[in-house]
Amino acid sequence: MPDAVIRHGDKELTLPTYVGTEGETAVDIGKLRTEMGMVTLDKGFGNTAEGHSTVSYIDGESGILRYRGYSIEQLAESATFLEVAYLLQYGELPNKAELESYVEAITLHTLLREDVKHLFEAFPNTAHPMQILASATSALATYYPDALDPLDADAVDISSRRLIAKTPTMIAWSYKYSVHQPYVYPDNDLDYSSNFLKMMFSVPAEDYAPDPVLTNALNMLLILHADHGQNCSASAVRLVGSGHANIFSSVAAGIHALSGPLHGGANQAVLEMLEGIYASGEDIDTVVKRAKDKSDPFRLMGFGHRVYKNFDPRARIIKKAAEDVLDALGVDDPLLDIALRLEEVALSDEYFVERNLYPNVDFYSGIIYRAMGFPTDMFTVLFALGRLPGWLAQWRELAADPSTRIFRPRQLYTGEPLRDYVSIEDR
Ligand code: ACO
Repeated sequence: MPDAVIRHGDKELTLPTYVGTEGETAVDIGKLRTEMGMVTLDKGFGNTAEGHSTVSYIDGESGILRYRGYSIEQLAESATFLEVAYLLQYGELPNKAELESYVEAITLHTLLREDVKHLFEAFPNTAHPMQILASATSALATYYPDALDPLDADAVDISSRRLIAKTPTMIAWSYKYSVHQPYVYPDNDLDYSSNFLKMMFSVPAEDYAPDPVLTNALNMLLILHADHGQNCSASAVRLVGSGHANIFSSVAAGIHALSGPLHGGANQAVLEMLEGIYASGEDIDTVVKRAKDKSDPFRLMGFGHRVYKNFDPRARIIKKAAEDVLDALGVDDPLLDIALRLEEVALSDEYFVERNLYPNVDFYSGIIYRAMGFPTDMFTVLFALGRLPGWLAQWRELAADPSTRIFRPRQLYTGEPLRDYVSIEDR
């Protein structure tokens, strides 16, 4: 690949270029400021790669997503979530013995220290689960001071396993506290998804057997959320990690980043939007019209994506799963009909077509979570549970790379020039 050349005034600089394994080209502007006195300006990092990554590959134009080279279609169809967690973190699919030993290691860490319970009780029981999860994840670091060194690979490994093992317990316990039910302890005879559903939905007074339809659907949803390149939350995790903050603090930052409605919080926002349309009886054409109206802040939640300019491949799988799960459970949800109709109208509307706005991962996932019995404000913590292995993989990739530098973007200062202090009487 030939170098790139940049000219400005009488200066010229040759910049090296690199090609990724799928043919993407990057121009390395690392010397631009020292050699030419300029920085690049890239709002929202639409064109900026911070570094190299081997974790996931996205082709937004063709609607492709792969983890470590494997298509998410195949993984969602055939793998378990812990198999994918292993793949993302260690780079290869585990063999039978590796998977058994990984699953056993995760299972050994599912319990929370008893005193962690008090943490949930310190929150009002109306607290949003994302706030609780971020705080509890941060707090976990204080229980394991010997395993926090970001430069110690064994410490990072055990902390990563603890996070994957304990996050379902933290989520389920925060829910149990919010509904005034007793905490349900992990059942290490169950697989990851079944154990989580049991901790969420069982009560000591009754027997509970996880429904395989729900367990399989949850496994698939967690896999589909497991990684997505340098998105807002993964970038937050990497940015915090670049300062050598411990992995718990970095993941807590990712959870906060994910909570926003333009990112992971969109799954809650979609369901609330569909519920609003159902309750008001507003017709779909009017909803779509409002989404196009620039003077109205309303946007079609679950539509559009910075990278996908085609159908989000995850949305395609989740849409089919939503129909299958509702069928299998014998549930007739009017919100699914509204979602299907909204999609149909939007995809044939010039505004959405011109801007390449398609349903994203969040558009149909909430319909499945709702059928499973999750309250709407828990949808984003389910996204966080799925995304956790990806955050850990991204953090570990950065920590293991000797060329990593602390993230420190430049800025274009457009504020006041130097001025004299004015005493308060004269202002
Ligand atoms: N409804 C209506 N119009 C939209 C929508 C939408 N959902 N999304 C984008 N547009 C329009 C914008 O108004 C803009 O129009 P313009 O060119 O006339 O100004 C154009 O499409 C491009 O949109 P941007 O906001 O510039 O795109 P950006 O890449 O910055 O944002 C985002 C992407 C945040 C996902 C956006 O599409 C959005 O807000 N979608 C709704 C929220 C959502 O579903 N978020 C989840 C994303 S997936 C994830 O994070 C897991």
